[in-house]
Amino acid sequence: MKVMAINGSPRENGNTAALLGAALDAAASAGAQTELVNLYGLKYSGCLSCFACKRRGGEKCRCFLDDELSPVLERVLASDALLLGSPVYFGDVSGQMRCFLERLGFITLSYERPGGRVFTGSVDCAFFFTMNVAEKYAAMYDAMFKNTLLPLRNLGGSVEKYLCTDTMQFDDYSEYEAAMFNAEAKRARHEEIFPLDLAAAAEIGRRLAQA
Ligand SMILES: Cc1cc2nc3c(=O)[nH]c(=O)nc-3n(C[C@H](O)[C@H](O)[C@H](O)COP(=O)(O)O)c2cc1C
Repeated sequence: MKVMAINGSPRENGNTAALLGAALDAAASAGAQTELVNLYGLKYSGCLSCFACKRRGGEKCRCFLDDELSPVLERVLASDALLLGSPVYFGDVSGQMRCFLERLGFITLSYERPGGRVFTGSVDCAFFFTMNVAEKYAAMYDAMFKNTLLPLRNLGGSVEKYLCTDTMQFDDYSEYEAAMFNAEAKRARHEEIFPLDLAAAAEIGRRLAQA
């Protein structure tokens, strides 16, 4: 059982990384072999529309771009479960996560029939979205959540999401020009609710590792 985590936040110690870490640690405790990839540590682009992965008679489910993401994509398709995480940036996932999903989605989808896929394996996926907005406003991103999960359907396994809202962005809000946030409320939520988010992430990691 191999479980991979893909961190789409540039912050390797931020909220997204913490959730993925909790999920991955729980998967490891359940006996899985685990790997964490920080997307912002890699040099790569989004899909360049070269169509090498769609050539008649050519190798399928392989990205032919010669960069640091292609070997990661190979390992993702060889894993049993995939944990992904991204902060919400301007109502979307981060740029690096978007590029990752373009590449993963395109090599696994079929151009032979609408909604078809060329990947014949099964990788269960869980996507952790982290964001500043409070839970009651998160529904405004519902269409984006749905679109983001779409390419993961090509992996043939279960697809689920977890929303972590009202995150703490800085350790010390007094150091930044950020008067629109209530620093005390952010701190209180980080101390009271974020541990529950981490526990929920761990539960997801454990469950996927045992699936
Ligand atoms: C460039 C940028 C854009 C952001 N846009 C949004 C947004 O549209 N909606 C939102 O709720 N939070 C937004 N945020 C806040 C982050 O999504 C949030 O703080 C997240 O939990 C950060 O994750 P991290 O700690 O893993 O980096 C933005 C943050 C940055 C840096």
